[in-house]
Amino acid sequence: MSNTISPVEHAYWVVVPAAGSGKRMGAEKPKQYLSLAGKPLIAHTLENILGWPGLSGIVVAIAADDPEFQTLSAAQDPRVHTVTGGAERADSVLAALEYLSQQAGPETIVLVHDAARPLVSQKDIQSLLSASPIALLAQQASDTIKQSQCDGSKTLVSQTLPRDQIWLAQTPQKSPLQVLQQALKFGLEHNPQAITDEASALELAGHKPELVAACRSNFKITHPADLVLAEALLQHRQTLEQLQSGAEQ
Ligand code: CTP
Ligand code: MG
Repeated sequence: MSNTISPVEHAYWVVVPAAGSGKRMGAEKPKQYLSLAGKPLIAHTLENILGWPGLSGIVVAIAADDPEFQTLSAAQDPRVHTVTGGAERADSVLAALEYLSQQAGPETIVLVHDAARPLVSQKDIQSLLSASPIALLAQQASDTIKQSQCDGSKTLVSQTLPRDQIWLAQTPQKSPLQVLQQALKFGLEHNPQAITDEASALELAGHKPELVAACRSNFKITHPADLVLAEALLQHRQTLEQLQSGAEQ
């Protein structure tokens, strides 16, 4: 029996929030435009997505004063659309979903994927597409997890949490378009501080997203050391491919 997935059955759109300023990176420009193995970080992310089977299109949310997006070769692909992002990540995602709702039906499957995660594997995308309609890539915690409390100038352990039940949320996060749009609108209106990813908005709306275990290469480039690590992995493609095939997890 063939495992081939029909592209029509699994047609989906990808939303890429890319309107952040990358404060934690502390660089002279937003982190998505920093050079990674010879081209901007976001070019790796978009070229990766453009190779996913069954892709209908990508909506990228960029900053109003974005100076570079149109210079990317991926930006010339007719499947790539842009909108102006907002003050917070959720505002950028919502702007992209509003644009998408003019192009596609309410049941359309949407994968929201951070511009700052260039190394997600196609194997993980296939797993996510095959999972429940509301699902996300995530990684089970490998360190022991401590909850903290402040005591004057010190941070103390208040308790150790059961590690088996702790997962670190990644992207893509998957949902039908209208379900996500309504959940984000509701979440931003009622509890904006709690909406740090799509799943948190969907949880607030009563859904229980499925956790799909992802490869360790799908880390988010946040601090300067993450860029060095991504560069090293890209220079050792064979190691990266072994990691992504599950051989080194
Ligand atoms: N993002 C966005 N709109 C915002 C804030 C973030 O589209 N108003 C995007 C970022 O460009 C990134 C993704 O959301 O691709 C994940 O956010 P994060 O890693 O936090 O990026 P930044 O917000 O840019 O970084 P920092 O929090 O360090 O400032
Ligand atoms: Mg941020």
